[in-house]
Amino acid sequence: MNKPSREDVRKKVERLGSLPTIPPTITELLRLMDSEDISLKEIADFISQDQSLSARILKIINSPVYGFPGRISSINQSLVLIGTGALKGMLLGVSIFDIMEKTMVGLWEHSIGTAIAAKIIAAKAGIKEIEDASVAGLIHDIGKVALGVCYPELYKETLNIAKENQIYIFDAEEKILGVNHAEAGSWLARKWNFPFSLVYPIEYHHRPSMKRSSVMVSIAHIADSVIKMMDFGFSGDQFAYRIDKDSLDAVGITTKDFTDIFGEIEMAISDKESFLL
Ligand SMILES: [Fe+2]
Ligand SMILES: [Fe+2]
Repeated sequence: MNKPSREDVRKKVERLGSLPTIPPTITELLRLMDSEDISLKEIADFISQDQSLSARILKIINSPVYGFPGRISSINQSLVLIGTGALKGMLLGVSIFDIMEKTMVGLWEHSIGTAIAAKIIAAKAGIKEIEDASVAGLIHDIGKVALGVCYPELYKETLNIAKENQIYIFDAEEKILGVNHAEAGSWLARKWNFPFSLVYPIEYHHRPSMKRSSVMVSIAHIADSVIKMMDFGFSGDQFAYRIDKDSLDAVGITTKDFTDIFGEIEMAISDKESFLL
């Protein structure tokens, strides 16, 4: 199969919202949230009609990703806790659990691990929007799912090339598809009018120097690197990459803080059972 053109990939990715792989509830919700003045209560009612989606949201909200004290038992309460900014990403994250595992075995764990790491790093850095940070971690690699769904055969080839040639998945994607998952993910996130606190980490987590103004980019970059270093889950290649020093400075984390951070992440990711939605 020939390499598709950049424009072809972009068009295909942007049309993803109407594909059957994305649950209709999500497509409808994203549309509603954009077009109308919809209240949190109405969103909660809408989600509650979909039992499997509701169950997944409650499961994740009670998991170490959020770690809210005490069990959260209603969708309404969950939405109040995570806030509307993070809601879109969260909905998308939990609804694509199955496609994620199908695209790449281990990608879900990598994503959940990054969400947990992002939360811990954001807390250490004293960032207020901890929930935004964890959702950014959860969906930072959404572009891999987008490319995998749009080009299943070519994405399989991409994974093989990365493995055989021992290269980063990022470079293998560019070689086979002409675009990488960060670009593809940002096309999708922008098309769906995600808040910039989610668009930027998706777009720049591998190139944090391009977006110094966004602290979420620094957090997602560090969280992604750390979770790869810890060898948790699988994200397309097994190479850890060097953490960008300026990103660490941006969130005020020193190398000394890492012992604590690693310890906290280690503890939070030990309960693997709670990750399965
Ligand atoms: Fe990535
Ligand atoms: Fe990643």
